[in-house]
Amino acid sequence: MNEKTWWIIVGGVRRLGLALAQSLSENHKLVLTSSQALGGDEAISKLSIYTNVIRLCWDANDPQLLSKMMTDLEALRGDGIYLSGAIIVAGTFPSTPLGSWDVNALQQIWQINLTFPFLAAQSLAPHLTDGSCIQFILDTCVHRPWLNRLPYSSAKSGLTSLVYGLAQSLAPNIRVVGHAIGAILPDENSDVDFLQNQTLLKRLGCPEDLSRAINYAASSPYLTGEILTLDGGRRWI
Ligand SMILES: NC(=O)c1ccc[n+]([C@@H]2O[C@H](COP(=O)([O-])OP(=O)(O)OC[C@H]3O[C@@H](n4cnc5c(N)ncnc54)[C@H](OP(=O)(O)O)[C@@H]3O)[C@@H](O)[C@H]2O)c1
Repeated sequence: MNEKTWWIIVGGVRRLGLALAQSLSENHKLVLTSSQALGGDEAISKLSIYTNVIRLCWDANDPQLLSKMMTDLEALRGDGIYLSGAIIVAGTFPSTPLGSWDVNALQQIWQINLTFPFLAAQSLAPHLTDGSCIQFILDTCVHRPWLNRLPYSSAKSGLTSLVYGLAQSLAPNIRVVGHAIGAILPDENSDVDFLQNQTLLKRLGCPEDLSRAINYAASSPYLTGEILTLDGGRRWI
């Protein structure tokens, strides 16, 4: 049996990131980041039964974020931990219709959904082993923006440029892929019937759909600089 390799999931302690961590724990040891030092402890304890888990505190709003990330990654290397995959999941999904925008609100949305992934990718790239893939979780809104969430949609579209440009900057050693996903784990108050009907396949996605795509990208050495859409056909409705 192959030895498990270390992957990092930025935003891997809650919801979709945690679901991915659970699914990937079979084949990987995991470094999981969260903006909070505590919380999600029960889920992480359960995960630790199946694989090695290291938790790091990376808060998009921390003024010391960049140096914290670099220090943490150096420390991992010092402990003999070499990362061979990175998934950047962290993000928020705020409703911000036209008329509600102000400088602070926009800065806050772009800080977590755009600045943070940029800084995380820059920090992680030198710490990934050759052949690794950096994967970004985007949104099907990169094809057609959510009108009530234009700042969020703009941030995710900005990340498509990061995927295309970073793939060129880091080739041939590191590959870069984005996943433009539809509704997989909608918020509690979402109208699930409506969301299902807004797809060609008439269903929500599930975390296994995403982990299958993540594993495909990780194990496809000729794939880079690509956005894979995984939205049940949402973009065509
Ligand atoms: N869920 C879906 O169906 C869906 C659909 C399309 C796209 N997406 C994308 O998939 C990603 C995850 O979705 P989700 O539904 O799991 O999102 P979520 O419930 O809003 O979770 C947000 C994630 O971002 C992290 N985060 C929040 N604030 C942070 C901060 N200040 N600094 C660092 N990390 C922070 C959270 O971790 P901590 O609270 O532990 O810090 C958590 O892991 C997002 O990028 C989202 O845009 C999700």
